[in-house]
Amino acid sequence: MVGTIFMSVPLILCLPFLLLLYSFIQWKLRQPRLDPGPTSYPIIGCLITFYKNRTRLLDWYTEMLSASPTQTIIISRFGARRTIITANPKNVQYILKTNFNNFPKGKPFTEILGDFLGNGIFNVDGDLWYNQRKLVIHEFDPKSLRDYVENVLKDEVEKKLLPVLEAAAAEVEEKVVDLQDLLRRLAFDLVCKVSLGYDPCSLEYNSLNTSHPVIEAFDVASEMCARRGAAPLSSMWKVKRFFDVGSEKKLREAINRIHLFIENVIRDKKRSSKERFETFGNDLLTKMVLEKDEEYARDTMISLIMAGRDTTSAAMTWLFFLFSRNPNLENEVLREVGIVEEDDENSLKYESLRELRFLKACICESMRLFPPVSWDSKHAMANDLLPDGTPVRTGDRVTYFPYGMGRMEGLWGEDRFEFKPERWVSEVEDGIFKSLKNVSPYKFPIFQAGPRVCLGKEMAFIQMKYVVAAILKRFRIRATSPDRPVFVPLLTAHMAGGFRVFVSPRH
Ligand code: HEM
Repeated sequence: MVGTIFMSVPLILCLPFLLLLYSFIQWKLRQPRLDPGPTSYPIIGCLITFYKNRTRLLDWYTEMLSASPTQTIIISRFGARRTIITANPKNVQYILKTNFNNFPKGKPFTEILGDFLGNGIFNVDGDLWYNQRKLVIHEFDPKSLRDYVENVLKDEVEKKLLPVLEAAAAEVEEKVVDLQDLLRRLAFDLVCKVSLGYDPCSLEYNSLNTSHPVIEAFDVASEMCARRGAAPLSSMWKVKRFFDVGSEKKLREAINRIHLFIENVIRDKKRSSKERFETFGNDLLTKMVLEKDEEYARDTMISLIMAGRDTTSAAMTWLFFLFSRNPNLENEVLREVGIVEEDDENSLKYESLRELRFLKACICESMRLFPPVSWDSKHAMANDLLPDGTPVRTGDRVTYFPYGMGRMEGLWGEDRFEFKPERWVSEVEDGIFKSLKNVSPYKFPIFQAGPRVCLGKEMAFIQMKYVVAAILKRFRIRATSPDRPVFVPLLTAHMAGGFRVFVSPRH
């Protein structure tokens, strides 16, 4: 009895405090949230909701961004750094251009991709980045782009890609082709030819039934690095790397294969054995091996191959999917392709590619909905304030989010989920598309923007226009399934399970 009284005294003393705490929590819950985003709890942050949504992060973030008054959200969860995700063009401009120096890729990014990309342009900041960009930029000047169309692209498309499709179209029984796989092989061969001056011939007809070992190694390395980035606790992959087990072992083996592939090309180049290597002009690797050390050259090549291999193929795959659902738009592109000038071998001329404005509108619209790079992050060097009032703390991850931006009603209107290439067109005269709208790269940061804008942007458009036009002119492509494919956002996005199509000749 006496004991109970003694126990109740501290309880009675605590009661006012507990009541105060309860009222404070109730008051807090009624307040409008200053940092929109998922509900967060002390210590664990939003770990539980994050885990529940881990397989649909793109759509989860997009829903929260649409509901946020500033189109910015803050994700705080146990074990990960505070992350600001924005779909607000003013913030994007601030991060990518106005205060560029405060938002480098940063150590957390370099750490995740360091084993794979080394000191390649994708993975470095400051002088290392600037000097490499200056070195590589010449590969993308107008003269190099013309060379690219006339000597590389034409050859690969006419002699390798189209014959594969012709063979499929000629089969009596309709043959199923994985168009994504073909386009990825094409993009890989193209980027290797441009950067290494070497054609790995992954698109050779007789090698199509087996996966190409180097493409496979790039796939594994990208996937394992993306897993590192998505791990709930960053220490998890470090422990696995230390013991060389599971995904980390696979990553190490894939990187070794990629290194070996490039080192062999360098070695053979040094021997300059003419039988095995087709050199076109002065490829970048040759120039780099002459001027820089081999490791530097190797890392630059890995970044370039990563940049060029999956991005254009992903964009084209989704475009063909959208055409298969919108045959009227496909016909409009065909009409446009039909009136531009060709060379003596019925191939598109470099100059004609500029005239394919409606096709460019279709490509942009497709990338708005299915961006090859769905999100991209920087890390704040110092405290800062974004234009929408979001405070940034030193070390925060700041992510601009093209996937979500393409789905914001405020940016694209009520019909934002529809595929409407017309939204890009500004002038049509007598059925000819005369010009396209000037859309701000901060509203449509598909190629990033500002000082670090994608170096291959023009090359990518040229390649995509050429390839899509060449295929459409000769073949009808139809999806084998009416289902909507699944969009998988790894380092670069792709279609889960490939894009299986029937190919028939176009008469
Ligand atoms: C549809 C096709 C493409 C898209 C959507 C795209 C998108 C991007 C994006 C978002 C970045 C910034 C990545 C980052 O900093 O984390 C980037 C950088 C880069 N891209 Fe592309 N890219 C495409 C095609 C290409 C091609 C074909 C090449 C060349 C072969 C290329 C070369 C580069 C390079 C070298 C960088 C690094 C620029 C720098 O850090 O200064 N890209 N690209």
